Amino acid sequence: PETGCLSIIVLGASGDLAKKKTFPALYNLYRQGFLQTNEVHIFGYARTNISDDELRDRLRGYDSICTSFSLSVHIFCCGALWYLPQETGDAECVSSFLQLIKYVSGAYDAPEGFQALDNAIYEHEISKNSTEGSSRRLFYLALPPSVYPQVCKMIKNYSMNRSDLGGWTRIVVEKPFGRDLASAEELSSQIGELFEEPQIYRIDHYLGKELVQNLLVLRFANRFFLPLWNRDNIANIQIVFREDFGTEGRGGYFDQYGIIRDIIQNHLLQVLCLVAMEKPVSLKPEHIRDEKVKVLRSVVPIQDEEVVLGQYDGYKDDPTVPDISNTPTFATMILRIHNERWEGVPFILKAGKALNSRKAEIRVQFKSVPGDIFKCEKQGRNEFVIRLQPSEAMYMKLTVKKPGLEMSTVQSELDLSYRQRYQGLVIPEAYERLILDTIKGDQQHFVRRDELKAAWEIFTPILHRIDKGEYKSLPYKPGSRGPAEADELLERAGYVQTHGYIWIPPTL
Ligand code: BG6
Repeated sequence: PETGCLSIIVLGASGDLAKKKTFPALYNLYRQGFLQTNEVHIFGYARTNISDDELRDRLRGYDSICTSFSLSVHIFCCGALWYLPQETGDAECVSSFLQLIKYVSGAYDAPEGFQALDNAIYEHEISKNSTEGSSRRLFYLALPPSVYPQVCKMIKNYSMNRSDLGGWTRIVVEKPFGRDLASAEELSSQIGELFEEPQIYRIDHYLGKELVQNLLVLRFANRFFLPLWNRDNIANIQIVFREDFGTEGRGGYFDQYGIIRDIIQNHLLQVLCLVAMEKPVSLKPEHIRDEKVKVLRSVVPIQDEEVVLGQYDGYKDDPTVPDISNTPTFATMILRIHNERWEGVPFILKAGKALNSRKAEIRVQFKSVPGDIFKCEKQGRNEFVIRLQPSEAMYMKLTVKKPGLEMSTVQSELDLSYRQRYQGLVIPEAYERLILDTIKGDQQHFVRRDELKAAWEIFTPILHRIDKGEYKSLPYKPGSRGPAEADELLERAGYVQTHGYIWIPPTL
C-alpha cells in the first residue's frame, strides 16, 4: 500500500450530502482502522463561513432520527434510511475522527478560496516530514453537478498535488451526470479537459454493494453457471428496484429527473452489464469495463410497446412538484441485447417509488423443462434470485419431491442467506468500499466515460419523448405493485409468475 500524506477534501462540506453520506462513510472507514495513520487529514470546503469547531459540532450533532450518538447510528441517504450496525457510545472515536477535520471556506469559483485550501493542505503535507508520494489529494465533490466544471477548474489551477512531493490528485463525482446524452457529454468533456480519465471516479453506489460485487465471482468462478447462462436456458431476467416510500422531501430534484434517470439508467443498467457481460480477459478494471461497454453497445433501441410508466397518486401534492408533472416515479422497460448469448432474452428493468415493498433483486428465470413427465410446469419455473437488499441472499427456486409418502412435487429453494451463513458479519456500506477504492486507485467499480456515454445513448430517445409528454405516466396507488399494465407487460415478455410460493428469509 502507498504511504505518505493523504488529504481527503470534501467540497460542499456544510451541505446535506456531505453530512449524511460522505462524512459518515469516512467516519466508518476511520473507525475500522483504514484512516487511522497520522498521515491522513480531512478538509472540508464550502461557502458557509464557520470555524473548524463549528463544522465538527455540526457533524457531531447530526442525528436527525435517533437520540443516541450522532454519526454512528443512522444515516438518511437520499430519502432512504441507512442503518449502520454499530455500538453507540464510541464517543472517543468520534472525537478523534472529528479532530482530523479542518475547514476552509470560500466560493466555488474563487481562486483565493482554493489557494487557501491548497495552503492548508500543503501545511499538513510538509508538517509530516514529507517523503516521496506525500501529496495525495482526493477531492470528493459533494456538490450539485452544475458546479462541477468550475470547481474542477479551480482545483486544476490552484489545488493540485505538489509535484515536488509526488503523489496524485483524484476527483470523485456522483450522478446526475447530465440529463441526456448531449448534456452528459458536455459535462464529460468539460471535466475531461482538466483531468485524465484515471483521475476521475464516477460513483454509482450500486457497484459498491456486496451482492453486486459478487456477480463476477458467481458467474466466472463457478462451473454450475457456465453452461446455463445463456439464451438456450434462460427465459428472461428481471432487475428490480422497489421502494416503499415516495420522493419525500426530494420532489423538486426528482421531478427534473424521474425514475429512469434516477435509478434505471445508472444503478439497474450497471447491474445488467455485470449479469450480461462476457468473461473479461482479467480482473483489471479496464478489462472489466471493456466488457461492460460491449454489452451496452449491443442493446437495441427500446420499443414503445415494451415500456410502462407510472406516477403514484399524491406525488404532485409535494409543493415543489408542478401540478402538471408527467414525471414517472415507476417504470418497467424491456432491454434486448443483440448478441450471440442473449438474442431473444428480455431483460426486464423495473423500478418504482411508493410501492408495496422495499427490495432490490435480480431474478433469472429459466425455461421450462422439455418433456415434463411430472406435469409440474404450472407450479413454476426454476429461478435463480440474487437479493441485493435487504436480507442479502442468493437462492435457487426449484422443484423437489414433496417430502412424504406421496409422489408429488413442490416448489422449494436452495438458500444462501448471508445473515445466516455469515453470522456476525457486518456487510460494509457501499460508500465506504468505494471511497476506499478511490484511495487505492482502483477504478473497477466506477463508471468510465465511454460507459456513461453508451448508457445515455440507450435511454436518451425515450427520455426526450417522455419530456415532450409523448408518453403518459399511468396513475397507481401508493403501496401497490404499480400500474397493472406493468404486470401485463411482464407476462407478454414471457415471465411466468409462480403462485403460492414465497421465499422467506431465514431468521437466526
Ligand atoms: C439513489 C437515488 O441513487 O439511490 C434514490 O437517487 C434512491 O432515489 C437511492 O432512493 C437508493 O439507494 P439504496 O442504496 O437505498 O438502494
